[in-house]
Amino acid sequence: KTIIKKIDVNQIDETVISEAGSILKQGGLVAFPTETVYGLGANALDEEAAKKTYAAKGRPSDNPLIVHIADIQALEEIAVNIPPETEELAFHFWPGPLTMIFEKSEKVPYGTTGGLDTVAVRMPSDLIARELILAAGGFVSAPSANTSGRPSPTTAEHVREDLDGKIEMILDGGSVDIGLESTILDMTVTPPMILRPGAITADMLEKVIGPVSVDETILGSESEQAPKAPGMKYRHYAPKAKLTIVEGTLREEVLAIRQLAYAAFREGKNVGIIATNETEKFYTHGLVKNIGTRENEKTIARNLYAVLREFDEEEVEAIYSESFAIQGIGNAIMNRLEKAAGHTRIAAAPIVEQQKYR
Ligand code: TXA
Ligand code: MG
Repeated sequence: KTIIKKIDVNQIDETVISEAGSILKQGGLVAFPTETVYGLGANALDEEAAKKTYAAKGRPSDNPLIVHIADIQALEEIAVNIPPETEELAFHFWPGPLTMIFEKSEKVPYGTTGGLDTVAVRMPSDLIARELILAAGGFVSAPSANTSGRPSPTTAEHVREDLDGKIEMILDGGSVDIGLESTILDMTVTPPMILRPGAITADMLEKVIGPVSVDETILGSESEQAPKAPGMKYRHYAPKAKLTIVEGTLREEVLAIRQLAYAAFREGKNVGIIATNETEKFYTHGLVKNIGTRENEKTIARNLYAVLREFDEEEVEAIYSESFAIQGIGNAIMNRLEKAAGHTRIAAAPIVEQQKYR
């Protein structure tokens, strides 16, 4: 029932785009690639289409959708009281992985904003996404195209696993580039506040507009406050096997995870290990998955959700992950990993000199 169409970003087939665009115009659902993750597209100005989106994802309807646009003029149609810094931010980061929140105009139905008077807006850079938005009339709401509670999809196959039979069409444009959802910046407060970390970091934003604040709930489990992005309060995704993040120096982490995996092996249990290019070879027990290289954390961001999905298919009783530096995209990586772990972290024992493994 769900039509799956391959589409090549270097040679976009206009007939496929216009077919997908008409489905959206008629109130249907089309999943499509963006540079961050696959989105589940619907006409953002159509209340009924928003309802279908929530139903297909199994998502609570108080969790607002991001409206995707393809040109800057479209922003003025859906947002009001747009603060002056927006222009600079849009100039630097749009199209791209930045979502900004504004007061909404009357044009945007409450179904799309989860009942809020604000609207989240993003202009994606992916060319398939941009052409689809234009073909659909210019305003496409798109949450990540996963079933609520599963990792966001970074391939069309992930979308098919979750939504086959529940939506009209999937545009298969291959693997996405970034692999983690966009940075969300609330422009309705002063200074603007980051509600969700992504590839556009606080440093990058501050270079353009000066100080930004960060929703404290992003940083860890300690905060008692509710997150300001409604979607961040839901336990996004819990792997079937319990995930634990091991923290220490890299060497300490490797030693600790080796010991945990060996202990499990002795008990006849299998564990999963989230390792990197640099550390993969040091693990002798457990199901080891190389998530990317520490020399380029973008590779880790790109693979994270696929690796979490793979572990859900495996018979492991626990998963241990190394941790990553909280800088650059590392912020977003650790934010998503900590959510998946339900904030379970353990400290690796400090190394005494004789214990060095190499
Ligand atoms: O990269 C992305 O942003 C992807 C792609 C498809 O563009 N989309 C995405 O959408 O991640 P979704 O629905 O999975 O996450 C949207 C987040 C949710 O946490 C939601 O609560 C928050 O944005 N959000 C949306 N509108 C909001 C608003 N008006 N105020 C506060 N938070 C809002
Ligand atoms: Mg999502």
